[in-house]
Amino acid sequence: MNIAFTREPAWDPRLFPPASRTPRSVQTARMLMDPQGYARTLRQRLGPVFSLRTLPYRGALVCAADAATNRAVLTDHERFTGGDATALLAPAVGAKSLICTPPPRHLSHRRLLLPPFHGQRIAGWNQRIRDLVQRELADLVTGHAVPVRPWAQRLTLDVILNVVFGLTDPVRTAAFRRALNAFVGMDNLAVLFLPEPLRRDLGPFSPGGRFHRLRATVRHLTRREIADRRARPENHGRDDVLSTLLQQRDEDGNPLDDTQILDELTGLVLAGYETTATTIAWTLHLLAHHPAARDDLIADLDAGSDRVLRAAVKESGRLRPAVYNAMRTAAYDTELGGHPVPRYAFVAALFPLTHLDPALWPEPDAFRPERHLGATATPYTLTPFGGGLRRCIGVSLAHLEIDTVLTEILATAVPEPVGPPERARLLSVTLVPARGGRVRFRVRGR
Ligand code: HEM
Repeated sequence: MNIAFTREPAWDPRLFPPASRTPRSVQTARMLMDPQGYARTLRQRLGPVFSLRTLPYRGALVCAADAATNRAVLTDHERFTGGDATALLAPAVGAKSLICTPPPRHLSHRRLLLPPFHGQRIAGWNQRIRDLVQRELADLVTGHAVPVRPWAQRLTLDVILNVVFGLTDPVRTAAFRRALNAFVGMDNLAVLFLPEPLRRDLGPFSPGGRFHRLRATVRHLTRREIADRRARPENHGRDDVLSTLLQQRDEDGNPLDDTQILDELTGLVLAGYETTATTIAWTLHLLAHHPAARDDLIADLDAGSDRVLRAAVKESGRLRPAVYNAMRTAAYDTELGGHPVPRYAFVAALFPLTHLDPALWPEPDAFRPERHLGATATPYTLTPFGGGLRRCIGVSLAHLEIDTVLTEILATAVPEPVGPPERARLLSVTLVPARGGRVRFRVRGR
């Protein structure tokens, strides 16, 4: 059991913000089935700060749902600290990854990782990403219904293998792809949310056993890559993340050890590939169901502008943020929106609620990219990448991938709806289209 969970305060209605009396198991089921709708119901009944009593929490998850409390959770790092709450993911991403690092180490750690994610460095990957999209396009533009999310996952995984690991060898790339696909699949990562005894390795057929076996394969391949890269000085000076990390020095001037690099790389894969693929899938799905917005976007792209593209991606991130929330823990007994929050309670900025608040976004359920044209959003009303000192480090890479994929696809084909719009489902912390974001692509001009 990780430390954040052992310290978590037990439920006591006097110590937490208001909660529904519905049993914990029912609240958990309702959140899984309708994460946006159920959270909105609670917000309407209980106000912008409430307690969600779901598994795996012993007490409750304190939820913030308006701009002021969203900002407090994301930026008041003294009161609400990051790194501990995400420790649930540590067996998958590695305890030394940035995501799992609490303050005060977090800041210096983040500085080490920032250079390869700088916008200018990332821009250099443009052509490589375009080539990958072109290679995969035929599997998407088939004239039949295609779930976009699995397609986009293959693509974004390949981008990560290039940008993060610097892999170019096709045999090694294929081995990594197989191992990572199996490891980061939600059926495998769901183990992290099981009670502690079930997470243990109880033999090859137990969920814990499978998890540990898949994890060992990924770590073995990564270790081999690190050792290889260390042994070959001709590979130094490359611009992938692994090469950069091999040249970094920590605060004491020492090179990073293998475990540190290993955890970092795994953390980046987990944080970066599903999220980006899910955003691509939602955006194409929403465009297919909103032909006027879609046609405006295509016309603007044809005219050589990316103005409407930017607005459409923002609007998709508002309506269907790929990451459901950002997690923190309360550093001491405090308050949020006038309600008590006990020390060590888990606290979440719940993005879908802030993004769908009718006081902030008129007609919040409508997909209207034009609302972002020429407008600057009020701070902390639109935060699909989180905020404060822990804001997503991969924003530039994610935008480059999303923009490139959409530009390449829409130059060739028009997304059209297949059946009714899909509802959102929660997979761990990712808000995914229930049927993969199905769309039919018609070749342009036909
Ligand atoms: C559309 C795609 C993406 C979305 C929606 C997204 C969203 C987020 C969110 C909400 C957070 C938490 C921020 C917070 O706690 O305030 C986060 C953190 C993070 N993301 Fe992303 N992300 C995306 C893509 C990526 C990519 C491509 C990478 C890198 C390959 C990446 C790496 C990270 C890392 C390392 C963190 C932890 C930062 C820290 O704790 O300092 N993400 N992301």
